[in-house]
Amino acid sequence: MDETVSRTAASAAAPAIEVRDLSIGYGDRIVLHDLNFRIEPGQIVTILGGSGCGKSTLLKHIIGLHAPLKGDILINGRSIVHANEEQKRSIMSEFGVAYQGGALFRSLSLAENIALPMEELTTWSRQEIRKRVSEKLALVHLDGYESYMPSDLSGGMIKRAAFARALALDPKLLFFDEPSAGLDPLTSDMLDNVILEIREKTGATIMMVTHELPSIFRVSDRVIMLSAETKSIVDDGSPAWLRDHGATDYVRSFLSRGGTFLSSTTESGAPDGVPAP
Ligand SMILES: Nc1ncnc2c1ncn2[C@@H]1O[C@H](COP(=O)(O)OP(=O)(O)OP(=O)(O)O)[C@@H](O)[C@H]1O
Ligand SMILES: [Mg+2]
Repeated sequence: MDETVSRTAASAAAPAIEVRDLSIGYGDRIVLHDLNFRIEPGQIVTILGGSGCGKSTLLKHIIGLHAPLKGDILINGRSIVHANEEQKRSIMSEFGVAYQGGALFRSLSLAENIALPMEELTTWSRQEIRKRVSEKLALVHLDGYESYMPSDLSGGMIKRAAFARALALDPKLLFFDEPSAGLDPLTSDMLDNVILEIREKTGATIMMVTHELPSIFRVSDRVIMLSAETKSIVDDGSPAWLRDHGATDYVRSFLSRGGTFLSSTTESGAPDGVPAP
């Protein structure tokens, strides 16, 4: 309780994530420009937008994998853009990430994959690590699969494993890129439940990329919608607000496509037949 109170008090001053005048891209190519937003501690935020608009690119910049063309990104008040290597490692140890596609190490078993961040970044004993690995795997219903290699797992199991690995160090900030794309509805519901459970238990801030409308309406407090056309934020608000009062037809139709939208969404999340803004 005390820990929760002091954490809340400490974080009240700084947003969990703050993006200032951010422009990002590859080489000369600008993917998104002049982005500004703040994400408060405990918020669950979805980054939404058509395929190729830069959702994954934005996520990769926020977690420090790429340097921006311009602007700043602060994680719990600390700039990940201007951090030196040591500061960057420290900032990166505060969050967990599940990448689009899973990105497990193919030569390591499932348990070894989940244990890796614990071995590299903590002084926990082998026994403690084994216990925590089992806990995380149970959370995504993969207990019993500890010794399996990634090549022996289905696509859905790999996504769930990536999720478990992101939770390895009980981070207060989590990033998920397409956690439930291509999963059957029950598995997808299960991941939604895990997301809500984590937030309820730990007050974690969660930023995710997903096209799954039921998931968005169930777990997201807020949607930041990007446009490939303007290369910027086209709207920002609760899913219901964007559906009913979104800034453009594109925003409103994106949020109200329901079954038809979902049935035309590919594994990579690419929506077909949605008009450009
Ligand atoms: N490493 C890279 N080098 C050069 N261009 C890239 C690189 N990664 C992505 N891009 C380009 O940047 C743009 C944004 O890509 P990004 O993967 O961020 O889109 P996305 O919104 O995540 O799409 P999806 O919904 O399909 O996952 C695309 O035009 C893509 O081709
Ligand atoms: Mg992507």
